[in-house]
Amino acid sequence: MNDAAPAATLVAPKGYNLEEVTWVHHWTDSLFSFRCTRSPALRFTSGQFAMIGLVVEGKPLVRAYSMVSPAWEEHLEFLSIKVANGPLTSRLQHIKVGEHVLIGQKPVGTLITDNLLPGRNLWMLATGTGLAPFMSLLRDPEVYDRYERVIIAHTVREVAELAYRDYLTTELAQHELLGEMVREKMIYLPAVTREAFPIQGRITTRLEAGTAERDAGVARLDPAHDRVMICGSEAMNADCKTLLEARGFVEGNNSEPGTYVVEKAFVTK
Ligand code: A2P
Repeated sequence: MNDAAPAATLVAPKGYNLEEVTWVHHWTDSLFSFRCTRSPALRFTSGQFAMIGLVVEGKPLVRAYSMVSPAWEEHLEFLSIKVANGPLTSRLQHIKVGEHVLIGQKPVGTLITDNLLPGRNLWMLATGTGLAPFMSLLRDPEVYDRYERVIIAHTVREVAELAYRDYLTTELAQHELLGEMVREKMIYLPAVTREAFPIQGRITTRLEAGTAERDAGVARLDPAHDRVMICGSEAMNADCKTLLEARGFVEGNNSEPGTYVVEKAFVTK
């Protein structure tokens, strides 16, 4: 909590678990990750989000956050922006190991493998903190069971915002259980729009031009074979939807699977 009370004196509001922060990492002045303990009773599917936050003035102050950690992991991990005057993130950015956060007991979301029809390549299109649900999915063996190639295209404004870049470039491929599948199937396509970088430009521009597929070394996006998950700002989601639908992709949801799914990367103030 933002007050310094020990956990024993804090009571979780109805519908939330109180979890202890175990790790904090600041990527930039405006981006950080943290881990906390996970109640064994908390169930979720990789790619989903939960309401998380702090008790402020006796009340829960929560926002939607995608889990970065996969469903099988013992702890929970989240990726957050820091907004100086944001009600939640202005406080959450100062969280320290040993302090407590609220975790909603009912994770939900559309970015799950069951909402997509079977296919050949799975494209994950992320901008900014929209990477979070894909970090979870990229560590779920089911994703690799279902697809021949899993392409994570993360686009940000500046190089420093490529959170988890080292992990995706080297560590994940060495993972004890996932490493072999990752080495065989995962393709990481980091891109930057406002600084020099090997891959530059918006994902929409690169898909229009075919350079995203060329950089990944795969065939042009095709709804007959490929599946897409999108997670970014409202504008990015809308532009990706337009591009995909013009090519015949159909949106899937929790009642009917499709050839693409989309979710807002929650701008959590
Ligand atoms: P750009 O630098 O050209 O605006 P943001 O921080 O605004 O959410 O942006 C994160 C990344 O998403 C940036 O690289 C940004 O590119 C890109 N982006 C923003 N809007 C769109 C859009 N409508 N379609 C595709 N990419 C977008």
